[in-house]
Amino acid sequence: MKILVVGGGGREHAIIRALKKSPRCTEIWCAPGNGGISYDAKCKAIAATDVPAMVAFAKEEAFDYVVVAQDDPLALGMVDELAKVGIPAFGPDKAAARIEASKVFSKDLMKKYGIPTAKYETFDDAAKVMDYIRAEGKYPVVIKADGLALGKGVLICQNEQEAADGVKEIMLDKKFGASGNHVVVEEFLTGPEVSVLSFCDGKTVKPMVSSMDHKRALDHDEGLNTGGMGTVAPNPYYTAEVADRCMKEIFLPTVAAMQAEGCPFKGCLYFGLMLTPDGPKVIEYNCRFGDPETQVVLPLLESDLLTVMQSTTDGTLDKTEVKFGSGAAACVILASGGYPLAYEKGKEITGLTAGQLDAADVTVYHAGTAIKQGKLVTNGGRVLGVTATADTLPAALEKAYAASESIRFDGLHKRHDIGARALAAMQN
Ligand code: AMP
Ligand code: GLY
Repeated sequence: MKILVVGGGGREHAIIRALKKSPRCTEIWCAPGNGGISYDAKCKAIAATDVPAMVAFAKEEAFDYVVVAQDDPLALGMVDELAKVGIPAFGPDKAAARIEASKVFSKDLMKKYGIPTAKYETFDDAAKVMDYIRAEGKYPVVIKADGLALGKGVLICQNEQEAADGVKEIMLDKKFGASGNHVVVEEFLTGPEVSVLSFCDGKTVKPMVSSMDHKRALDHDEGLNTGGMGTVAPNPYYTAEVADRCMKEIFLPTVAAMQAEGCPFKGCLYFGLMLTPDGPKVIEYNCRFGDPETQVVLPLLESDLLTVMQSTTDGTLDKTEVKFGSGAAACVILASGGYPLAYEKGKEITGLTAGQLDAADVTVYHAGTAIKQGKLVTNGGRVLGVTATADTLPAALEKAYAASESIRFDGLHKRHDIGARALAAMQN
């Protein structure tokens, strides 16, 4: 089979590496891809959001299957457009992608079907938002822009002044563009966070191994929110008992709700959960694989990813085995100094051969790299993700950190405490 993966970050690299293990994958492409991905797949410079150009390219090259990995092309309906020209694709159609693309849609869905989530109200009028927040008088309060905002459209406000400033930024100054026309105001929840990615074929849901992201830029969860500075899998807070409860109270009801609404979800449904004192609750849904969760989840998958993906498209997931190994994985992100704010690009990366390290059970996933004049250079905020697998989480973390030491570039920034909280939880 000839396969195209749409996107160009560490997640896409991890998907490509997993797909290449399939004996049925004979040729693999990535659009747009990046420098490091080009060691593993042919890259084509088409923006992931350019739906007409991507569909035309897919037709021209006669791909057998397309994996749309990134959120915005899914929200733009790339899977629907590919279907129109007869090319099957992994991922939800435009209607189902609303579960991530519109917070108002997802919150209303959870309310209608009794799926546990933070208490909330939605607004399209800035004055009414502040009336509500003042009347509730509970801080911190969480304010979210409705649409896709690169994971940055969530504000946690400690008092009335911060809330007023936040509402102004989102709704009046339109800091996140049109996604700020509607906002969701919700109650602040506490508890450990767990990411659970799952395969769905519209009717059946099969969860993958759980994971834990580290969103803040600096050690001890300080600094700004980022796309994710590292991950571990499995997540020790996600016990068998919690998993059972999530299946009954969240996963099955969500898949049934989407079916009942006439937009069955096919692809990877990501449950961002918080294990609150009142039980597990949904913080957010994503309509795609998480980044950098994928970089620790897929290395533990023992089943053939291509077969599983195709079964979500065909509606045969119930008959398809989805099996994970019993070991653990850790991913440490190497970022450009300054990320998530301004940073420089074009710094030479040393220590890699054809994009990889010569270390057992270690894979380097390229998030933001380019090849310029034959040299591998930095080309993004998150540059590389160093993933190691082992029998236990402590061993995986040790291997990932040791391996990351041999990679260098100017301004390299990484967290030193990825997995620390998970290790502490395991000792309790
Ligand atoms: P989101 O983009 O919805 O994942 O939100 C980003 C981060 O904000 C989450 O991973 C949480 O850490 C935090 N967050 C979002 N909603 C809430 C909430 N209701 N209570 C507490 N923290 C939240
Ligand atoms: N790591 C969080 C996300 O992919 O949205």
